[in-house]
Amino acid sequence: MTAALVSAMQHASEAVEAALAEALAGDDPDYGRILEAERYSVLGGGKRIRPFLVLEFCRLFGGEECAALPFAAAIELMHCFSLIHDDLPCRDIDSLRRGKPTNHVVYGEALALLAGDALAIRSLGVAASNPHVSPATAVAAVKALSDSAGTHGMIGGQVMDLWGEDHPLTIEQLGKLQACKTGALINVAARLGCLAAGLSEDDARTAAACTYADNIGLAFQIVDDILDCIGSEALLGKPIGSDEEQGKTTFLSFMSVDAAHDRAASLTEQAKTAIAGYPGSETLCELADYLLARQS
Ligand code: IPE
Ligand code: IPE
Ligand code: MG
Ligand code: MG
Ligand code: MG
Repeated sequence: MTAALVSAMQHASEAVEAALAEALAGDDPDYGRILEAERYSVLGGGKRIRPFLVLEFCRLFGGEECAALPFAAAIELMHCFSLIHDDLPCRDIDSLRRGKPTNHVVYGEALALLAGDALAIRSLGVAASNPHVSPATAVAAVKALSDSAGTHGMIGGQVMDLWGEDHPLTIEQLGKLQACKTGALINVAARLGCLAAGLSEDDARTAAACTYADNIGLAFQIVDDILDCIGSEALLGKPIGSDEEQGKTTFLSFMSVDAAHDRAASLTEQAKTAIAGYPGSETLCELADYLLARQS
């Protein structure tokens, strides 16, 4: 990672952490430990890639960071909801996430389910309350978030992922699965950045951002599948071998690690090409390279 990327990601992490802490502040003893359970999975962990995309695309296209921050917090809340539910005993049955016991291990399955629900709903509220954009832009952001997380996005992909445990998938179906379960939230992060910069959904710059995000999204999940197979649990902060244990269909069901890596590398190049013509896009190009080479 270049020093410029490290510093930009560090800044984004700190800014989004503060926004997340504010969004999750408060306690009410009548609700038991739900707020604690929400904070447990959201604060102090994760690479914060999706919030970084929101901030970077907003910056690239001339927006103010204050307009992007609530959307950055919103996408991270939605992502954390997807992680808590992904780890549940009825799903991937994982007990380590971000280097800590998973939410259901600490709080029990019922509270983990509700904490996930609460984060998804809270995500939409945080995006809707962005005081630095027009009401129409806030509504567009809420719709984009709900579409990308829902049946035609992340959740649809997770259903295909479950189906793929017991049924053969074609490589085309696997591509759709991964574009939905992982790509959709990465795509919406880029779009939220464009919205925060005041671009319309049909602006050519938004289209370029989407092409970049769709390509790094697919590469991201291929790398995730490779790391699940040959990565280090200590670096990743989540279990190795989970996909094989659950009988998941991944790119490694179709090809070698080297061939899968080549595919991710080619997607990374396509992502960079999509935005390279915009002055100031170097950080996002470096991000794409970092995501390909990452070990965590
Ligand atoms: C993990 O996402 C879930 C996938 C979509 C593969 P990240 O690798 O971005 O997880 P964190 O946020 O850094 O923990
Ligand atoms: C899940 O994919 C993607 C999500 C929507 C959370 P994985 O099940 O491979 O993610 P990890 O490896 O548990 O983070
Ligand atoms: Mg999963
Ligand atoms: Mg999983
Ligand atoms: Mg995985």
